[in-house]
Amino acid sequence: MTVIRRETEADAPLVHALHDAAFAAAEHSSGHEADLVDALRTSGDWEPAYSLVAEADDRPVGHVVATYGRLAGERILGLGPIGVDPALHGKGIGSALMHAAIAAAEARDEPAIVLLGSPVYYGRFGFVAASEHGVEAPDPNWGPYFQIRPLTAWRSGLRGVYTYSPAFDEFG
Ligand SMILES: CC(C)(COP(=O)(O)OP(=O)(O)OC[C@H]1O[C@@H](n2cnc3c(N)ncnc32)[C@H](O)[C@@H]1OP(=O)(O)O)[C@@H](O)C(=O)NCCC(=O)NCCS
Repeated sequence: MTVIRRETEADAPLVHALHDAAFAAAEHSSGHEADLVDALRTSGDWEPAYSLVAEADDRPVGHVVATYGRLAGERILGLGPIGVDPALHGKGIGSALMHAAIAAAEARDEPAIVLLGSPVYYGRFGFVAASEHGVEAPDPNWGPYFQIRPLTAWRSGLRGVYTYSPAFDEFG
């Protein structure tokens, strides 16, 4: 059985090891995703409600976090990293984490979540190219890989270039 719950203090080292393992064989990896999570955790852009762990057999087997970046002068969530134990890929754990993160943001009246990733994968969760909503990536080369999931509180005035939490500049 896998449950999705909020990260606790005791999880931090296990979450670090989990991202190291998850991204070791990933197609696109900076090699610093675990360090990025640690840097984000001590930043002012971290909101505990958006750091979620998938737990199975009493251990974290997946983790996702969304932290605040900036868009049009407002705090808007950027999702990532997300990682699942490589031995457990393809069992729906990543999807469960994504649905939980989106529901948490929706419940707290966040206007949107943005991310950089595969349109094929994230399209399953309602993400579309951010440009469709007038939102530009920090790097124009990201093209359709920079995506947005508008939520109920979305407003069309939220346009322009999105900037991630500064920790992404160092470890992203
Ligand atoms: C991406 C990741 C979190 C998905 O977790 P998961 O538990 O395996 O996901 P699910 O079981 O919910 O979904 C699996 C499906 O997603 C697809 N998928 C996974 N990664 C994908 C990617 N990068 N691009 C397209 N599809 C992808 C799988 O092919 C599979 O497809 P299927 O359902 O048609 O068989 C996991 O593969 C992972 O940890 N990868 C390494 C880290 C990483 O790349 N993170 C994302 C960076 S944007």
